Amino acid sequence: MGIKIKIAALAISILVIGGCGSNNSKPNEEMDHSTMNQDMEEMDHSSMDQDMMGNDHMSHDEVVSLNNSTGENELKIPSMLERDNEEGVVYTVRAQKGKTEIFDGVETNTYGYNGTFLGPMLRFDKGDTVKIRTINELDEETTFHWHGLEVSGDVDGGPHNSLKPGEEKVIEFEVAQEASTLWFHPHPEGKTAEQVYNGLAGLIYIEDDNSKGLGLPNDYGKNDIPLIFQDRTFDDEKQLNFSAVLNDDGTIGDTLLINGTLNPMLTVNKEKVRLRLLNGSNARNYTFKLNTGDSFVQIATDGGFLNEPVALKEITLTPSERVEIVVDFSQLNTTIDLALINEDGSILLPFEVSDQSGKISRIPGEMNNFSLTEEEMEMPVTKKVELFGMMDQVTINGKKFDAERIDFTQQQGVTEVWEIYNKPDMMGGMIHPFHIHGTQFKIISRDGKEPPENERGWKDSISIKPDERVKIAIQFKHKGVYMFHCHILEHEDNGMMGQVKVE
Ligand code: C2O
Ligand code: CU
Ligand code: CU
Repeated sequence: MGIKIKIAALAISILVIGGCGSNNSKPNEEMDHSTMNQDMEEMDHSSMDQDMMGNDHMSHDEVVSLNNSTGENELKIPSMLERDNEEGVVYTVRAQKGKTEIFDGVETNTYGYNGTFLGPMLRFDKGDTVKIRTINELDEETTFHWHGLEVSGDVDGGPHNSLKPGEEKVIEFEVAQEASTLWFHPHPEGKTAEQVYNGLAGLIYIEDDNSKGLGLPNDYGKNDIPLIFQDRTFDDEKQLNFSAVLNDDGTIGDTLLINGTLNPMLTVNKEKVRLRLLNGSNARNYTFKLNTGDSFVQIATDGGFLNEPVALKEITLTPSERVEIVVDFSQLNTTIDLALINEDGSILLPFEVSDQSGKISRIPGEMNNFSLTEEEMEMPVTKKVELFGMMDQVTINGKKFDAERIDFTQQQGVTEVWEIYNKPDMMGGMIHPFHIHGTQFKIISRDGKEPPENERGWKDSISIKPDERVKIAIQFKHKGVYMFHCHILEHEDNGMMGQVKVE
């Protein structure tokens, strides 16, 4: 009976997805809920498996494509947050509501940090002691989560660190990790997807002696450009009506905003330009490439520099993943229109290349000393994570999130190997971007094989395909209770999250 109920629920889910069908999408339109339900209930597990998987007709990955950017608006660059003069408090970050002119002459209701939409960039140096006064000016609870930051559980901003409307709290931590591009966003239990969708997200840059000495492009907003990719659906009034467009398998939209800019374009000099890409979308995956097919160079993963630059023609980012890439505009044919495009060809960011030659920066052959040791590679798996399901039926190790339940314990400072498996469902399953709080980890293997060159660096989020098994070496430097979860925010809100207690 349990299985039948699930199948019925899945059947409804299939109908809800709608746009998901590929070579066989007709039945979606012709079948109504009730007949579909009936059919499914009568089917037994095995015939269902065969029917659904054999034809491969329900691919979760086919989603509405993005409208091309017309390039009519210069890309907005988030401001760098000034430090406070106030004794003892270094930064103030407030979550607030507001109205933002995303479309000309129209006010859209949005959320933002220290502004009406998105947030400023926080720049830390390795070794800094950072104090942040966090203030909740929303009408609902929120948290301030520092994604990718190695901090103790009590300041990590998970669902246990919730601030009520009007509340504020000063947190303090030491920045001890290497140069990287991290981000921050809210994490209230069951409400993360909507708050991020409404605009709560900001960037963190960590710099260190290494990053400052490498000679890479580092002129913020000039040749060191953050790109926060978020897809949205706007209603007829140009509002973000989350509950109206909510999809339990991940809310997607046809309209791309980069750094909150609609129809963005970026003006660059004829020089090497460093792009820090963040997939800040609730659910959409992107595969970025240049429209000319030219290659670019990846220099960093989520948590730091690669040892060596890796030349690529395209790079896929699932939600919450970051990469830093360098595009050398002095080497590209600028007599044709250049743009960053998505896998399906939609234009994400047209480039306008000015005649100026810009700065001389370089991409050094050696950037870091990341290593995966022999010992780590041979350690036995001590924690297993099984990701399963879709829509509101998502689970980790067969369970849904329970704030009162600790799923794993791990000793502070001790490396363990976690194995994460994405168990396919009857429809084949879908990619789940898996994220762990409070640390950066190393990928040991994907399905027993060495990870690709551009994943041989610190990661805090990892894309896992259906039926894929990934081994990671992970150590926590601090104590506390940390979340691990799918970073499709609706999956997270639907309970695809667990807790590890580090003691
Ligand atoms: Cu981006 Cu639980 O985090
Ligand atoms: Cu996180
Ligand atoms: Cu998921």
